[in-house]
Amino acid sequence: MKVCIVGASGKLGRYMVQHALDRGYEVVGVCRERSVEKLDQFKGHITIIPGATNDRAVIKKAVEGCDGVLTVLVPWGVHQYSSGTAQAVLDYARPDARLVFSCGWHITRDGRDIYSPTFLWVVRIFGWIARFVRFADLEDQVEACRRIFASPTRWTVVRGSDLEEGESQGLPVWSQHVGDPILESNITRRTDFALFMVEALENDQLVHEAPAIVSCQSSSAIAH
Ligand SMILES: NC(=O)c1ccc[n+]([C@@H]2O[C@H](COP(=O)([O-])OP(=O)(O)OC[C@H]3O[C@@H](n4cnc5c(N)ncnc54)[C@H](OP(=O)(O)O)[C@@H]3O)[C@@H](O)[C@H]2O)c1
Repeated sequence: MKVCIVGASGKLGRYMVQHALDRGYEVVGVCRERSVEKLDQFKGHITIIPGATNDRAVIKKAVEGCDGVLTVLVPWGVHQYSSGTAQAVLDYARPDARLVFSCGWHITRDGRDIYSPTFLWVVRIFGWIARFVRFADLEDQVEACRRIFASPTRWTVVRGSDLEEGESQGLPVWSQHVGDPILESNITRRTDFALFMVEALENDQLVHEAPAIVSCQSSSAIAH
């Protein structure tokens, strides 16, 4: 299997590269030019295409011939980075390729997620301040996911809980809706978020799903 990892130099991205190599996949990574050195540990084992992830020419080249594309969707900046990245992947990946995107719980697919008032306030205040200082645009990440959900491609959008570093605890468990009791612990190891993304490539049951994930060893996962 040949996979492209868009946003490979970030924390989540590097974990995904490692999991993909562990499975024997051929890996093509896309990251900003200035971040290429963050992938030095994989030198000789992966192909790197430097460039902005919302540069359509960069994505077109990177996803060519790939069976799967793993995309880290980030809301940074106010120049449609997230939606531009998602659109390029949707447009240029092979029609039968497995596409797996990352985001957080704040994204809702069908409006049936139940959020705590605190969560909603944090998202609202962070979103407003981030946009005001032109640091990030959460609305653009929402737009990116809207386009993915409307796409006929073989997509999965993995919605991460709060994240922490540490050794793997195993494949996270998931639910269709935030607010379900199994997700109550709201914590996942970042390496396991990456594991879930890579495993999703070969799990057809996750096609056209937006799983919200939580650590399989969290108290809510064990209880439910
Ligand atoms: N952090 C959390 O608690 C959390 C919780 C739930 C879900 N998530 C989701 O997890 C994913 C990644 O989260 P993460 O915290 O693990 O971060 P990460 O893996 O470090 O990812 C950050 C990514 O953003 C890129 N980036 C940083 N600044 C940028 C800029 N100004 N312009 C363009 N790209 C920029 C980085 O590229 P460079 O290497 O080039 O800097 C890297 O690819 C996202 O989809 C996020 O929605 C995160």
